Amino acid sequence: MTQVDTHSRTISYLRVSVTDRCNLRCVYCMPPEGIPWRPHTDILRYEEIAEIVRAAAELGITKVRLTGGEPLVRPGVAELVKMIAAMPGIDDLSMTTNGVALKRHAHALAQAGLHRVNISLDTLRPSRYESITRLGHLEKVFEGMHAAQEAGLSPIKINTVVIRGLNDDEVVDFARQTVDLEWNVRFIEVMPIGQCGVVDEGWRDEVVTAQEIRDQIERVLGPLEPAKVITGGGPARYYRLPDAKGTIGFITPVSEHFCTSCNRLRLTADGQLRPCLLSDQEIDLRTPLRLGADRAQIRALILEGIRGKPDRHHLSDCAPSSKRVMSEIGG
Ligand code: 5AD
Ligand code: SF4
Repeated sequence: MTQVDTHSRTISYLRVSVTDRCNLRCVYCMPPEGIPWRPHTDILRYEEIAEIVRAAAELGITKVRLTGGEPLVRPGVAELVKMIAAMPGIDDLSMTTNGVALKRHAHALAQAGLHRVNISLDTLRPSRYESITRLGHLEKVFEGMHAAQEAGLSPIKINTVVIRGLNDDEVVDFARQTVDLEWNVRFIEVMPIGQCGVVDEGWRDEVVTAQEIRDQIERVLGPLEPAKVITGGGPARYYRLPDAKGTIGFITPVSEHFCTSCNRLRLTADGQLRPCLLSDQEIDLRTPLRLGADRAQIRALILEGIRGKPDRHHLSDCAPSSKRVMSEIGG
């Protein structure tokens, strides 16, 4: 049964963070020392996540994305993929990963029923990759992307968060890759989530708007044409260089909010339903679940989340203070 919220938005998409842990420490996402991981007992078991997804599917959720932290650091995540892939009503099951461990997992994930992956990649330069992620090696990501392609986890989307002075000199390089490779590169305006790294009070200066990125690309590579990407329904707007194999997308949470067409809910690894990425309002699903709530009760709580979903965020007026860093929400 499809649910429409109080602002006439159809809610069809659930992002599930399966862990708050990560094998990287990206500068805009986590402080250098990392964050204290939540204890294992706080984290939902796979069967608990599956129960919530089942309830959500009964309310009209058709798309599920697994996120983290880094979902591939949680042992046995393919088991969860298998459970969700088998659920009636779920027709799109994807994962957002940093790709570092993807080579090892791509085949098993595809076999378990995962449809596709989005890969977070902010630079094409090996030494810069090491400084942005603090712990990562670029080669591993390329190997992971290759494995994903081989395993049929496509179309592959690449999420590139653009930060002034950090990687904004590479947008043309990324765009150029789409000519010969089937990459769908999505440039994302950086958002001020949590207190860490380079995203501080001066965050507004670090935002490179989609318009600026587009201008940079067009100045060097010529005009972009509107393009369609098979899967989506998300906030990205897609373009293509003439005759390119891949596409170029823009996600503009800062310069142009897309809240009026927001179709999503989020579930944190510790079982809190977040109706909006940029609002700290949460509904605890873990406690009732562990106290024996049945499917109908979980559905009722999810509905409460849908009804309470804010109409929009207010990044243009002020930076929100978040009690969680991005790795705990899953982007
Ligand atoms: N602003 C915008 N995007 C971000 N991501 C992580 N932190 C931020 C931020 N502060 C992106 C990651 C990943 C996705 C889940 O969210 O790069 O691709
Ligand atoms: Fe990990 Fe993604 Fe955060 Fe980087 S952005 S530290 S890969 S969760």
